[in-house]
Amino acid sequence: MNPELASVLYLLAACLFIIGLKRLGGPHTARSGNQLAALGMVLAVIVTLADSGAVSWWVIISGLLVGSAAGAILARRTAMTGMPQLVAAFNGFGGGASALVAAAEFLENPSLPVETGTTAAVSVVIGVAAFTGSFIAFGKLAGIVTGRPLLLRGQIIAEWAAGAGLAAAAAWAVTGGGPAALWTTMGLAGALGISRTLPIGGADMPVIVAFLNSLSGLAAAAAGFVIDSAALIIAGALVGASGLVLTNIMSRAMNRSLGNVLFGAFGTEGGEAGAADERPVRRAGIEDTAITLAYARSVILVPGYGLAVAQAQHAVRELADRLGERGVRVRYAIHPVAGRMPGHMNVLLAEADVPYEALLDLDEINPDFAATDVALVVGANDVVNPSARDDADSPIFGMPILEVDRAATAVVIKRSLSPGFAGIDNPLFYRDGTLMLFADAKAALEELAAAVREA
Ligand code: TAP
Repeated sequence: MNPELASVLYLLAACLFIIGLKRLGGPHTARSGNQLAALGMVLAVIVTLADSGAVSWWVIISGLLVGSAAGAILARRTAMTGMPQLVAAFNGFGGGASALVAAAEFLENPSLPVETGTTAAVSVVIGVAAFTGSFIAFGKLAGIVTGRPLLLRGQIIAEWAAGAGLAAAAAWAVTGGGPAALWTTMGLAGALGISRTLPIGGADMPVIVAFLNSLSGLAAAAAGFVIDSAALIIAGALVGASGLVLTNIMSRAMNRSLGNVLFGAFGTEGGEAGAADERPVRRAGIEDTAITLAYARSVILVPGYGLAVAQAQHAVRELADRLGERGVRVRYAIHPVAGRMPGHMNVLLAEADVPYEALLDLDEINPDFAATDVALVVGANDVVNPSARDDADSPIFGMPILEVDRAATAVVIKRSLSPGFAGIDNPLFYRDGTLMLFADAKAALEELAAAVREA
């Protein structure tokens, strides 16, 4: 292919990535943004393969078909609750692919110039660590590896030693160490990726997945410098930067630093509820809750992780419709880290065709709770925990919350008094104005919708 034409097509692909990313910023443009970015990726892949002339068109087309089919099947089969692990697996493949590109340069050209060799080593180290780390994250999210933080005695010291060994092996590879140096570098980087991800609690995995995503982008950008590919550098830099921004947003919304997520061993699933079961709560049934809702003027629905687990997005929409028919003003309050991945609630509710205008962010909705008759909390816990606002000793102190405790009545649908992700008790459940409806979210919402119709 004419090199100028290839450069123009790469530039076009890069523009498509950037416009696609920009459009992902809003719910109405996100779908087309995703399609534009995918188009950019197809273009970049075709130009790269055609430009390098390394393989025939038949191989290119077969590769595209096999890869696209595998991607389409995975994406179609994965349930919404499985998205974080799917993203983790994709990151792993991205990091691994970049590492292989850089490793191939080492193997093909044993005497790389030091600058190129160093960049290739950076790509191999980050790419392999992102690969193994992502698959541990995948395992934790899929329940194959325990979600508990795993830290063996002496592990930190062993990691320092492995880190020093890794630096030495990478330097050896850069200075012409050949395949033995490369394999040692890859082995140590892979081991460190595993041992650094294992001590992180399963529930913190989404933050780690975003961080690993950023690393896989950096590995790709470094590989781009090695093989002199502008498209790879741009795509890698975009992934690296956006992954870092996302990591930062998630950490901030949980009021934690990345260091605390990486080294804090926080977020053990199924943590202690403390004295939760000892104190009395006010229980509610379907009938009385339906009447409270049906005769309210305004209701704010607060979805959380439990709504996703119960797959209750259609049921909540059904209830909102029934209430709307009765003239009740219904809105949804969306916390930035409700659920287990960024935008989790937005995506779930969009699947049930809940209009985006009915979804309100924390800052928009919080002032309205005090003037609201009923806040109906569905499978949310930490994001409505008043300790984050009132108790300076709470591990989640400082995390912004949805202030459902300011509503005249708060009804909480969950199965028990078990804690949420942070593993801590929630004073909301024991306050006078709160009613606890102990049930599976989907079953309760379906019954409530039917009861509201008859109320
Ligand atoms: P959580 O605090 O995790 O609470 C979810 C609640 O849902 C649980 O207490 C559970 O109680 C209930 N539940 C589970 N299955 C249910 C079912 N089938 N029916 C009804 N209820 C069910 O959820 P949240 O309030 O959405 O907060 C999210 C947490 O995840 C935050 O701490 C956040 O920091 C963390 N986090 C989020 C992200 C992102 S990006 N979203 C990333 C990392 C961490 P029962 O077992 O009693 O039913």
